Amino acid sequence: MLIRHASDIASSEITDYQLYLNRRSFLMGMAALVLSPTRSAVAAPPAGAPLSAARNEQFALEDSPTSFENITTYNNFWEFGPNKDDPARLAHLLKPRPWTVQVDGHVARPRRYDIDELARLFPLEERVYRLRCVEGWSMVIPWIGYPLASLVKRVEPTSKARFVEFTTLHDPAQFPGQRKSLLSFSSLDWPYVEGLRLDEALHSLTLLTFGLYGQVLPNQDGAPIRIVAPWKYGFKSAKSIVRIRFVSEQPKTAWEKAAPSEYGFYSNVNPAVDHPRWSQATERRIGEFRRRKTLMFNGYTDQVAALYTGMDLQRNF
Ligand code: MTE
Repeated sequence: MLIRHASDIASSEITDYQLYLNRRSFLMGMAALVLSPTRSAVAAPPAGAPLSAARNEQFALEDSPTSFENITTYNNFWEFGPNKDDPARLAHLLKPRPWTVQVDGHVARPRRYDIDELARLFPLEERVYRLRCVEGWSMVIPWIGYPLASLVKRVEPTSKARFVEFTTLHDPAQFPGQRKSLLSFSSLDWPYVEGLRLDEALHSLTLLTFGLYGQVLPNQDGAPIRIVAPWKYGFKSAKSIVRIRFVSEQPKTAWEKAAPSEYGFYSNVNPAVDHPRWSQATERRIGEFRRRKTLMFNGYTDQVAALYTGMDLQRNF
């Protein structure tokens, strides 16, 4: 190997080296853009208020968690707009306090809860879950919340309650995507509505979620309260909820209303049932380049398969 001292190097060569470095950093920048297409131009939010929770090791995963930056800059939250970076850019418009959640319908103890009271009703746990979006990407997120079942039992559903309906805040002042104008994109019938069967809502995996990564939910991830049902496609996890209603009929959900042949009520992650316009067999973990095989029920088969015994999952997609 030839080692040269600085005094041996001609100044012309140093200029060349500067050029080389500039070109190299330019090319590396280009490569980074090409190799990580999810890298966003928007910045992750500053740290939010801390939210402490005991880690529940029963829900630990071997998969490493997706970075806080990706979780908060690559979002689906159509109330802010259709692009992945719209929620991070516009999240400051949402005011998550004061906030109340109406819990009503077929229950013996209907009530309107203040969000901070609701968050303190039961001990908070940290659970790491996979989130698989119907679009073919996935993340691994350390959520903070408690089982939705705890709240369901507290309000005492009556025998008429067969489904639980979740409704997102409808306020065009805070959610520009809900504004009716020729220029703004609006494909959903607001407010965003989602639902679960009562036994799905009572399942121990279903999390009433108040935070992630040790802090309160960032606005773009559904502050101040959302649902997470990890064996279902991500759109079942309604964000920024203001109402939880117990009903006897299967709720008409926002995506079902928009495209019934594409988004069924159940929406269990199922690599064997293609979306009409694309395969669901594989997914790309955000932050990675390769595609991995999508797992039945997003990897939660042992826990949830019994909920669907005897059901035709091709028909009930
Ligand atoms: N909830 C509301 N209110 N509005 C939405 O547009 N998008 C859903 C779901 N919940 C959505 C929503 C979809 S498609 C996904 S994949 C997840 O939120 C994404 O959650 P994340 O952005 O925190 O990863």
